[in-house]
Amino acid sequence: MAIISTRAALPQIKPAGLRRFHARLAAWYAAHGRHDLPWRKTADPYAIWISEVMLQQTQVSTVLARFYHPFLTRFPTVDALATAPREAVMKAWEGLGYYRRAGFLHAAAQQVASAPDATFPQAVDHLLALPGIGKNTAHAIAAFAYHQPVAILEANVKRIVARIFALRTPSDAELWAGAEALLDAQHPFDYNQSMMDLGSLICLPKNPLCTQCPASDICLGKTDPHAYPTPKAKKQTPVRELTIAVLEDANGKYFLEARDAQLLGGLYGFTQLADAGDIDALCQQMGVTPTHRAALGTVTHVYSHFKLIGQVEHIRTVQKMNGPHWHSRAEIAALPLSKVDHKTLALVENCHTAKKKIPKAGAKRRPR
Ligand code: ADE
Repeated sequence: MAIISTRAALPQIKPAGLRRFHARLAAWYAAHGRHDLPWRKTADPYAIWISEVMLQQTQVSTVLARFYHPFLTRFPTVDALATAPREAVMKAWEGLGYYRRAGFLHAAAQQVASAPDATFPQAVDHLLALPGIGKNTAHAIAAFAYHQPVAILEANVKRIVARIFALRTPSDAELWAGAEALLDAQHPFDYNQSMMDLGSLICLPKNPLCTQCPASDICLGKTDPHAYPTPKAKKQTPVRELTIAVLEDANGKYFLEARDAQLLGGLYGFTQLADAGDIDALCQQMGVTPTHRAALGTVTHVYSHFKLIGQVEHIRTVQKMNGPHWHSRAEIAALPLSKVDHKTLALVENCHTAKKKIPKAGAKRRPR
């Protein structure tokens, strides 16, 4: 059965209007563009790919300040990334969130490095065949590293397209059609970079600066920009409450487990339990006889789809534990941990520091 679209075609922009827009956008970008962003000053597809993946869910300022340069220093080539241990890649990604991205990067690097010619793919189809590379990232690499005439469609560009064509609830297909209709195929590098800058400097989600916009001549949404696209109703973030069990043995080793593959795959963390009543069963399972137990406090973290509130319980034993799950603090410092586990660790450290400050009962005070 044929699928008939019920959506009207996009409004047409006349060729002369499009040419004027391209010229105005190019002039605006020359004057105001963020030309110094390091991933705009390289033609290395590997570095461009890393930057694009980092920028998928993370702000430019964060990527720039803390992640892009250290990651490339640690893994300067696709081979270096491919041959690195998974744990080292996850450690370099620690704090960036959306850890599946790091797993995909590693897997994709191994795929590139093991291909017969071991060179970074150029064709969009080949880029799309790599793990974690979708249409936008494939087009970004093709346009920025190889100057191919393809449009990108990241969050800022989606908003610009929705406004220019006055689309209230556009589908992805409509947004892509709009992005492709606007593309300056002669200058794919500058055009696509300038669209992202336009989105972050002029075509802002709130209070866009329409009077300064190089697209104002062709923009059908400029009289009511906030209507395009229709703002999403704010959803209540679900709250997940749980207990975080910190098991510590006589040697100051902690029990850590490998995290859930979907959300935090490749990271390590303290055991998360639905209920504090599950602690006894956990101890039994681990062969731990608890000697002290204390509530250390609460940690919270907001993920994209829920808020986690964890009550941290510190369970100590006088036993000396062995096995791959038990780690000293020095070992833990080298392992990739999520934000929640770092916050948990900080509570444990506080507790140790506080204990050191309390003189033991009966201990003599030093004379001043
Ligand atoms: N977000 C995604 N790609 C980007 C780029 N090349 N420059 C700035 N922000 C971006």
